Amino acid sequence: MPRLVVVSNRVAIPDPTGKGSAGGLAVALKEAFQAYRGLWFGWSGRVSAHPSLEPKLVDKGNVHYALMDLTPIDRQEYYNGFANRALWPNMHYRLGLSEFSRADYAGYLRVNRSFANALARMTRPDDLIWVHDYHLIPLAAELRALGLTNRIGYFHHIPWPAPEVFGTLPGSRELLRSIADYDLVGVQTDRDADNLRRGIVQEFGATQQGTDVVVLDGRRTRIKGFPIGIDVKGFQQVARRSPAHRVVAQTVASLGPRRLIIGVDRLDYSKGIPERMEAFERFLISNPDQRGNVTFLQIAPTSRSEVPEYASLSRTASETLGRINGALGEPGWVPIQYVTSAYPRSVLASLYKIARVGLVTPMRDGMNLVAKEYVAAQDPEDPGVLILSKFAGAAQQLTDAFIVNPNDKFEVAEAIRDALHMDREERIARWKRMMKIIEDYDVSWWADSFLKELGDRKGTNKARRRV
Ligand code: F6P
Repeated sequence: MPRLVVVSNRVAIPDPTGKGSAGGLAVALKEAFQAYRGLWFGWSGRVSAHPSLEPKLVDKGNVHYALMDLTPIDRQEYYNGFANRALWPNMHYRLGLSEFSRADYAGYLRVNRSFANALARMTRPDDLIWVHDYHLIPLAAELRALGLTNRIGYFHHIPWPAPEVFGTLPGSRELLRSIADYDLVGVQTDRDADNLRRGIVQEFGATQQGTDVVVLDGRRTRIKGFPIGIDVKGFQQVARRSPAHRVVAQTVASLGPRRLIIGVDRLDYSKGIPERMEAFERFLISNPDQRGNVTFLQIAPTSRSEVPEYASLSRTASETLGRINGALGEPGWVPIQYVTSAYPRSVLASLYKIARVGLVTPMRDGMNLVAKEYVAAQDPEDPGVLILSKFAGAAQQLTDAFIVNPNDKFEVAEAIRDALHMDREERIARWKRMMKIIEDYDVSWWADSFLKELGDRKGTNKARRRV
């Protein structure tokens, strides 16, 4: 059995107290690391003026962690800059927000090179290398340039935009070319896979073999949808244990007989939070009988606050919230409750279970695991209703949700109304069909099927180095 080497920007070391809230990637990769001896390499989350060129090593169970510090400039240019101010908005179709700077792009390439240098010294020839997330797209190219011939896979957690959109980003051509240094590229949906393959074919005249493979400069790269799933059983167990957490008890007490609508997202403009508040406002205006009978709880942990566009979103969300609550609230009833703290999974699971409606309306999203977790947490006898944006990857799978266009607040408002009126029989029927998909394509399916294809040496690339 080869060793599995995972590389990602964020590395989640298990919390010995077990109390911390495990990040999505950590939960997803836990399964993979059960089957393999593993090494997890990435950013420590720390900055230091003079970071070591060698990673700090930490051992936990059968996983070794190798953590690199960044300089303040690296963090600014690579993480805040190119990854989160240029790539992220572009890949979420927000071209007006995408800020390109040559210095940031150079910083992004520099960090990828220094990660590759440190990682190459730790790898063995038969390691399977699995790179995650848009921060590290050029990593395989850097590793190949150092002579690595390992099987290297990449999973792209966010949308891959249409070639016409991605092509607007300076540096996109070089990034597209570096995709060819991977053996397998996983994306969330077939649409993302098609966008990426078309981009490579259009840009370089690469040839396509069958549905999934593109051949560029003699290298074969398989590009396929592997929709990421959740740990269904684990999440359901957490949801069943109603925790005696203060937040859950207070929510239940403050709701009284009112029904709860819930949204949970990082505070990110791709999630459509102010737009969702306005859709809820529209619902209250169109359905005055519902005023005082329903509460919308939006949990939106602050994220990437050093990036100006996120600070601006935070102001917009607070202003929208204040305006709506001021205009429509009454003594004893606040229409929208809004919190920017992060809560443990156990609290979120309990809140999902209590909520009659899960409102998941991103403007664009790779997958959106909140949608799947909301469904998994429901009581099978009396499940709630999922309202889901057509622009979330999850909408390709969860076709029994109420699928909406988040740009149309009237449509979302009507979906809220219909969801609140939906009878139990229909709620159960839709929930069962969604659960079947969520169970069939859970996180183990995702990790196993990706790693199986990555390890499959059929049609293996022989010429590893690009010329
Ligand atoms: O969804 C993409 C992603 O990079 C995740 O892997 C990550 O957990 C999340 O966004 C949060 O972003 P950040 O690491 O910038 O806080």
